[in-house]
Amino acid sequence: MKILTTIAEVQAEPRENRRVVVPTMGALHKAHGELIRVAREHAGRDGKVAVSIFVNPLQFEAGSDYERYPRRDEADDEFCRNAGVDLLFRPSVAEMYADDRSVFVEESSLSKTLEGKSRPGHFRGVCTVVAKLFNVLGPDAAVFGEKDFQQLAIVRRMVRDLNFEVEIISVPTVREDDGLACSSRNQYLSDDERRQATVLHKALRNAESADKKSAGDIVALARNVINEAPLARIDYVEVVDVETLQPVETVAANSLLALAVFFGKTRLIDNIRLG
Ligand code: PAJ
Repeated sequence: MKILTTIAEVQAEPRENRRVVVPTMGALHKAHGELIRVAREHAGRDGKVAVSIFVNPLQFEAGSDYERYPRRDEADDEFCRNAGVDLLFRPSVAEMYADDRSVFVEESSLSKTLEGKSRPGHFRGVCTVVAKLFNVLGPDAAVFGEKDFQQLAIVRRMVRDLNFEVEIISVPTVREDDGLACSSRNQYLSDDERRQATVLHKALRNAESADKKSAGDIVALARNVINEAPLARIDYVEVVDVETLQPVETVAANSLLALAVFFGKTRLIDNIRLG
């Protein structure tokens, strides 16, 4: 496995084989492993799998967890080696961003709801870095997880609207044995918070199996389950359309239940398809 830290090194790499990229912020876990496995499958026998690890300051709002976001270079190297990654790209912030940078990529519709409402500027940071990573790595395909459903939808929209020649492959949410969606942020949770965080998946599953058509009823049901956990503080629980990400009133085949909940300072997100 090659570990490259500069854009020039990546650009000097031979490019005759298919390349499938998995963009990450590191602190790699089981879900990243699944994305890499899917990337491997799509790359085929002669194709190459590239993983990028970059904790992107642009997508962290002021006062959020940029500084304390876990950084595990050695463990991540080992993880990628074991997962059969061919190229690991780990640029510094200075390598990615000029001090006087003045061009950004902004999606202006899908990023207005859910995470975008709670985290202003977040998706501008995501789109800008993903566009840059696509330009630097020149992938034929890139793999993203459905846990970050809105991110996936926005990246697809960016690819469509800006004509990136990159196939976007999605991977269903990977969960721990007790249902909690894998996340680099789970390690911030105290033992009590970690135990109580299982209400999120329980709320999603109860909502999924409930025979209710009113979005308000579904949200109320999910909120009640989450509120069984005394340490949970709900940011939002919403039913939206999977295409537009706009709130809907009636649950249909193309509805998504999405939530963001704080446990202490840690903010967790999860979602499930309804209908
Ligand atoms: P990060 O949180 O490291 O996630 C990297 C990729 O792993 C994303 O596509 C995310 O959706 C996926 N992922 C994380 N947890 C998952 C889970 N439990 N199940 C399925 N997929 C999961 O998302 C980012 O980094 C950044 O925003 C990035 C796209 C790299 C841009 O900076």
